[in-house]
Amino acid sequence: MSTEKPLSRAIHDRRATPSFDGRPIPFKDLRRILDAGLSAPSAYNLQPWRFVVVRTPEQKRRLRSACYNQPKVDEASAVIVACGDADGWRNGDLEEMLRMGRENGMPENYAEQAKAAIPAYLSNHPNIEMWLNRHVMIAFTHMMLMAEVLGYDTAPMEGYEPEKVSEVLKLPLSYVTVALLAIGWGRGADKFSGGRFSFSRTVFGEEYGRPLSDKPGDKADE
Ligand SMILES: Cc1cc2nc3c(=O)[nH]c(=O)nc-3n(C[C@H](O)[C@H](O)[C@H](O)COP(=O)(O)O)c2cc1C
Repeated sequence: MSTEKPLSRAIHDRRATPSFDGRPIPFKDLRRILDAGLSAPSAYNLQPWRFVVVRTPEQKRRLRSACYNQPKVDEASAVIVACGDADGWRNGDLEEMLRMGRENGMPENYAEQAKAAIPAYLSNHPNIEMWLNRHVMIAFTHMMLMAEVLGYDTAPMEGYEPEKVSEVLKLPLSYVTVALLAIGWGRGADKFSGGRFSFSRTVFGEEYGRPLSDKPGDKADE
């Protein structure tokens, strides 16, 4: 890939691709896509995401059978299975985050506070799957848009059976699968464009139900 699309164009052009032609993706591009995911922000910089990249025909076939037989799973050049690790912070991520932070100027009082606060927060979290989803989807979106910037087509997927995906990928029990990202070159026509809800239906100013105007405090905001 030589020319990159501006991000605004990638966002504008992106479609969920129904079918891929299967050509392999160069590793350097795949690496850039994954690095974009790893650049995402996370609470306390805990980075609870893990990604399994599936590229071989045999493994794509097995994965497809865990995805209600969706053809794009084995047609895509690569499928990134985006997971969250509920126990990452217990199993070394917290220490690694603090080590890197201290190396890069994290104040000691911040490190001490984080070391105490994170286990207290996460060991009693009321919905750890939701917490993982929140983070993994930001990294997922970074990857999806980086793939589009590099000229690839993508398809996000939630149509899969989590237990079957875990079995095919031999995931540890603490891993939650969040979504799959198929990447490659689209084949054939895009599906119909479903459109998007209007601004006034989905965006509010200051409080629910009030339209957003171009100036805060305008009549439309009152
Ligand atoms: C999290 C997520 C999961 C999705 N899962 C599937 C899926 O399993 N199969 C599928 O064909 N499309 C899936 N889609 C694609 C959506 O149907 C598609 O994004 C939507 O219809 C809007 O179309 P567009 O992305 O082309 O604008 C998924 C999209 C998202 C964001």
